[in-house]
Amino acid sequence: TRTVRVGILGFGTVGSGAYRMLQDNRDAILRRVGVPFEVTKIGIRDTAKPRQLPAEMFTTDLTSIVDDPAIEVVLELIGGVDPAAELVERALRNGKHVVTANKELIAKHGARLISLAKSKGLDLHYEAAVGGGIPLVQPLKHQLAGNDVLKMMGILNGTTNYILTKMQREGADFADVLAEAQAKGYAEADPTNDVDGFDTMYKISVLASIAFHKHLPVEGVYREGIRGVSLLDMQYADALGYTIKFLAIVDAIAEDTILARVHPTLIPKTHPLASVNDVYNALYLHGDFVGDLMFSGRGAGSDPTASAVVGDLLDVGRNIAGGGSGSAIPFDEEPLKTCPIDD
Ligand code: HSE
Repeated sequence: TRTVRVGILGFGTVGSGAYRMLQDNRDAILRRVGVPFEVTKIGIRDTAKPRQLPAEMFTTDLTSIVDDPAIEVVLELIGGVDPAAELVERALRNGKHVVTANKELIAKHGARLISLAKSKGLDLHYEAAVGGGIPLVQPLKHQLAGNDVLKMMGILNGTTNYILTKMQREGADFADVLAEAQAKGYAEADPTNDVDGFDTMYKISVLASIAFHKHLPVEGVYREGIRGVSLLDMQYADALGYTIKFLAIVDAIAEDTILARVHPTLIPKTHPLASVNDVYNALYLHGDFVGDLMFSGRGAGSDPTASAVVGDLLDVGRNIAGGGSGSAIPFDEEPLKTCPIDD
């Protein structure tokens, strides 16, 4: 069988996690997808940082990766728009499939880049852009596509949910918990993006654009971060039977009209979102046929985000191997072994 050659742009929390998952689960992935993946080049900014891998795998010339004729799939894991937008566009123009974890890129340039990919018969996947390891993008695009979505409420930022949880439970100090979230690899390079709600705004733009089938510009989202939330607010909320969560909320108002907002919100402790704590994210939605639905799981960090990136990569691999993505994924007729219940 042929090998699928992969280039990675960025080797931080997400890039190194994706690489590790491809190595650790290599044999199982080969069995499941039928083609081996080989990471041939990794683009980085800083050559001075110590790395576990041979130096010749790394380059600071990111363009050389998207121009490399041997590379079929580019994983864009650098974040931000500049230079990610240009690199992704160039990769697509060069006929490469792209997998990205970049919410800002998809929120601002997704409509254009997805059209470009489609016009060239290429995959552009971005499951990891929203909700870390939780599958949200594919279910919204596929399984839920027959519904009219009437409402979405999401906890979409792991860092701020971690901060609010620790403040609520332990009376912890904002700056201390933020430092902890950074040390755990949850926070953005610039944590302002988390704390002031830019990250959540990008993510709800991506989700709403899929759910409502039209681009939601970030300018259309009201945004207020969590800096104004005090321990006293939390105590009052608690006494009244509420908890404070940092939510993205979208209401369908009329045909092609929505109300989209990101702000700290009082929610009753009995609501399912109230028990989504720490680095967990969740998306709660109401569709006209499916009714209420909630997804939850780890929304940030190296391993969960790698899980989403690698899932997308395997989809590309299946597509390349033949049959197209979305074609039947078989399971073997050879039965699983089962254990008896011992008494
Ligand atoms: N900084 C983000 C978060 C990472 O805390 O949720 C995942 O996008």
